[in-house]
Amino acid sequence: MLPGIRIIATGGCLPEKVVTNDDLSKIVDTSDEWITKRTGIHERRRCVTETHLDLAAAAARQALERAGIDRAQLGVCLVTTVAGDTITPSTACMLQKVLDLPEDAACFDLNAACAGFPYGLRVTEGLLTEDRPYGLIVSCEVLTRLTDYTDRSTCVLFGDGAGAVVVQQSPDAPEICAVLGSRGDNQALYIDGAPGAGAPYIHMQGQPVFRFAVDAMPRCSLAVLEKAGVTMDRVDWVVMHQANERIIDHVIRKMELPPEKVYKNIARYGNMSSACIPVALNELYEAGRLRSGMKVLCVGFGGGLTWGGCLIEIGGIS
Ligand code: ACO
Repeated sequence: MLPGIRIIATGGCLPEKVVTNDDLSKIVDTSDEWITKRTGIHERRRCVTETHLDLAAAAARQALERAGIDRAQLGVCLVTTVAGDTITPSTACMLQKVLDLPEDAACFDLNAACAGFPYGLRVTEGLLTEDRPYGLIVSCEVLTRLTDYTDRSTCVLFGDGAGAVVVQQSPDAPEICAVLGSRGDNQALYIDGAPGAGAPYIHMQGQPVFRFAVDAMPRCSLAVLEKAGVTMDRVDWVVMHQANERIIDHVIRKMELPPEKVYKNIARYGNMSSACIPVALNELYEAGRLRSGMKVLCVGFGGGLTWGGCLIEIGGIS
């Protein structure tokens, strides 16, 4: 059996600017009522002066300070994102510099779209070693700069933010039992990347993505629980990707989840892609609702189309 990892600290950073549904109704033909009813979103954050690196570094610093670890023992600095300031260098490489991380730590960005955080945990679990047992995972997205503010079907959904965790490998930590997958699809959800392909905006066919999500999320969640040999009554929190409150509620109904175990913050931040799950974990931590020994089921889906889930234990938090 592989040694597993535990989350020992969290951090987060959200840009200051709040964009309400009423603000958006002044620039596109929409309304607070439509957005609230169809998505559950009331407001989201938008970077004005903050860069991707600013958000990532602030979230990472907070997590590292709370972890109180010797940074020399950090083996991995992994950033999940679809929207770095530059294609290269990666945000993770720039974090190595601004946070003064060891030069021999593996630093790289990972793009699994909104499923990035469970992907990042699994990759980190595989890279850590006994003598370098700590990993930093930062999920940071500035989706508003990839948003077409003339397209009402997408511009109401997305926001910016960053969440970070420090994980520790330990021989007595359970494996995270990640379930990861993808279904090559370049139509339902994509962002242009090739030069000359057009403005790099998020293009999405809402209904196919919705149908994919309500199938993939319960399937992935159940597969993680089966792999871990754990039933829902032993899970303390379920933290899902926050794309649409109707998707989350569908998963609650389909899996018969106790609603009080399912954390939601979509009303305040909208869809921050891979940052949704760690931002939620950080809110749980700051509210004193994460304690050592708790098990958290994290599950996400996104462009690709990707899905990813895992069951991770909390450690070192009293
Ligand atoms: N305001 C008012 N009307 C709107 C808006 C808006 N912002 N957007 C669309 N409409 C209209 C449409 O034009 C359509 O009008 P019509 O009936 O006259 O043609 C009507 O509302 C219904 O449109 P639908 O697309 O059918 O609305 P739906 O109920 O499917 O909701 C939504 C759209 C919210 C996008 C939903 O499909 C959804 O959440 N899909 C999943 C999206 C998702 O999960 N994305 C994230 C995945 S990955 C990532 O996070 C990057």
